[in-house]
Amino acid sequence: MQTGTNERPGLPVALVIGGGGMGMSAARRLGQSHRVVLASQSAAKNAVREAALREDGIDAVAVQFDVTDPDSVARLAGFTAGRGPLRTLAHVAGLSPSTGDWRLILSVNLIGTALTERACLELAAPGTAAVFVSSSAGHLAEPPPANVAAVLDDPLTPGFFGRLNEVIPAGEQTPLQAYRLSKWALNRMCRRRAAAWGARGARIVSMSPGPIATPMGARELEGPSRAVKLKLMERLPIAREGTMVETADAIEFLASDKASYITGTDLLVDGGIVAATRPA
Ligand SMILES: NC(=O)c1ccc[n+]([C@@H]2O[C@H](COP(=O)([O-])OP(=O)(O)OC[C@H]3O[C@@H](n4cnc5c(N)ncnc54)[C@H](OP(=O)(O)O)[C@@H]3O)[C@@H](O)[C@H]2O)c1
Repeated sequence: MQTGTNERPGLPVALVIGGGGMGMSAARRLGQSHRVVLASQSAAKNAVREAALREDGIDAVAVQFDVTDPDSVARLAGFTAGRGPLRTLAHVAGLSPSTGDWRLILSVNLIGTALTERACLELAAPGTAAVFVSSSAGHLAEPPPANVAAVLDDPLTPGFFGRLNEVIPAGEQTPLQAYRLSKWALNRMCRRRAAAWGARGARIVSMSPGPIATPMGARELEGPSRAVKLKLMERLPIAREGTMVETADAIEFLASDKASYITGTDLLVDGGIVAATRPA
């Protein structure tokens, strides 16, 4: 008999992508009922994250990977399949406007999500649920015109950035615009891919947080964007930031059998900010 191990080979697998604030809270929660594969970019932080999850008694392994690299995503999918049947994908990784430029934000938030969506669809079976963490920012701006939407719908075809250059002037290619467009396109990807996931008896949804108290949320409250963000937050019907417990609640619900008839849609977990700023 093996002793001193958290191994629970009978549990289904949850793949959690992104080991930041929200990703770790999701891993802790899903780890109550799943074996967890936590995949994130920083090898050094991953070692600490794996140890922290294991200290909580969770059957967890952390894997270094880069969501923008197709080979890295393929290796991760193979590793995950080797751990057992994929029950839950929680794709949480993302860059905020202050942590990247136009190209990097679109690469991580849009190309990266499309790569994991395609790879994990291959692992999906009846009962599998995929939850992609998006943002209320995708709802707050006007939707882009049809020619921009058509390019955003197809981020994995070579020449993506060249085609974007043809429809979005260079002067509009800001980090904030990359963030808004990537999250708008992510919500749309989950709608457009519902049929493909449904064909496997599986579900795909997005979850759009408003301002959440995470290290990323705190970074966005520093520097030049602080005043703009605080002004927006003054309009929150629930007059505070959300917490990582509340986003983990939403991810857990959307991934669970309680949400078994929910697919191809988005759940706002935003304290009502979209309702307050874009009524009707
Ligand atoms: N916090 C908020 O107020 C808020 C509001 C709305 C939406 N969101 C969304 O919620 C999600 C999580 O936010 P958070 O606050 O938890 O952010 P966070 O703490 O900054 O975590 C983001 C994680 O993404 C990972 N990542 C970045 N680039 C990657 C890459 N190329 N390959 C693999 N992993 C990569 C990072 O991994 P390493 O640490 O391993 O480098 C980081 O841990 C994001 O999608 C964000 O857009 C957040």
